[in-house]
Amino acid sequence: MSTNSSSKQALQFTRLLLQWNDEFNSREMPWKNEKDPYKVWLSEVILQQTRVEQGLPYYTKIIQQYPTVMALAKAKDETVFKLWEGLGYYSRCRNLLATARMVANEMGGNFPTEYSALLQLKGVGAYTAAAIASFAYNLPYAVVDGNVYRVLSRIFDIEIATDSKEGKELFSTLAQKLIDKELPGKYNQAIMDFGATVCKPALPSCNVCALNTICKAYKHGTVNLLPIKEKQLKKKHRIFYYFVFQHKNQFLIHQRTTKDIWQNLHEFYLLESPKTIHWNTNNISEWLEQQLSVTEGFEIEDISAELVQQLTHQKITSRFIKIRLDKIPATLSAYNWMTKAAAMKVAFPKLLNDYLNEYAILK
Ligand code: ADE
Repeated sequence: MSTNSSSKQALQFTRLLLQWNDEFNSREMPWKNEKDPYKVWLSEVILQQTRVEQGLPYYTKIIQQYPTVMALAKAKDETVFKLWEGLGYYSRCRNLLATARMVANEMGGNFPTEYSALLQLKGVGAYTAAAIASFAYNLPYAVVDGNVYRVLSRIFDIEIATDSKEGKELFSTLAQKLIDKELPGKYNQAIMDFGATVCKPALPSCNVCALNTICKAYKHGTVNLLPIKEKQLKKKHRIFYYFVFQHKNQFLIHQRTTKDIWQNLHEFYLLESPKTIHWNTNNISEWLEQQLSVTEGFEIEDISAELVQQLTHQKITSRFIKIRLDKIPATLSAYNWMTKAAAMKVAFPKLLNDYLNEYAILK
């Protein structure tokens, strides 16, 4: 992230995310814009390991019964455990009570106002401390969780494992660089909501995404691959689906650049999938619409048989989906489009050459 172009992308990211938030984010949650550190803390503890929809009624119930940290501190353990029933991870509930009593008895009922002091509270880790600091006190601490890993790895096409030491440091530094220093609370809530509603784990809404113009993974066709976990990199078996796009006499060709197999070699539009997809005209059409905003002017010509290549440490299983396009869609215009003659001069991995020969694609 040291070049000018990535700094520019960083600034654009923050601006576009906040703009998306103002124009399109309709997610409503009772703790949104909440400044009371007690309520912020309670909502964040509930949302550790719990989905928003599941956590919501618990938040409402607890706030009704205990509107302040002083009230919660005075509650009987058993009563609170009963309220917590069904949420699971009961250590959260034990820590909740311990922290409430600590704040009530040793801090006069006032939550600490500094990030480092928040971190000292039981059950408050880096994520929760950053959430409280930014939402309640407008302090510039960026939250980093699964949503943030997913959004940032895609926007910046970062193919470093999020669960590696290097990855954790890189993403924390990047998140801290991106946070809007004037509106940290708004920014943190926006990135969480964006990850939950647009940049979703499966079938993200790339075609309508307000950030797709700056999303590197979208440009490179790697959205479905990201974020990467260490376990995945060690994986011996990978599944590649190639979309072979043809427009008149031209083919979409991409040169591989990432630190991975086949560096510098050429390929078609790749969708790497963690599991087998049973492709048919329906789900191909759906994919074209969701990922590329292509709804008409295409013909699915062929879905190849399975082709396999055994590399030294990995086995690649693949299928090729041949699609003829009436025109080049805007979402694919940044790629190289090569004539058959030009394509025959560039280098492909063996797997692709096998396909090209067997299906006589460039003949
Ligand atoms: N998950 C954790 N904290 C959250 C918040 N404040 N809003 C939505 N999801 C969350």
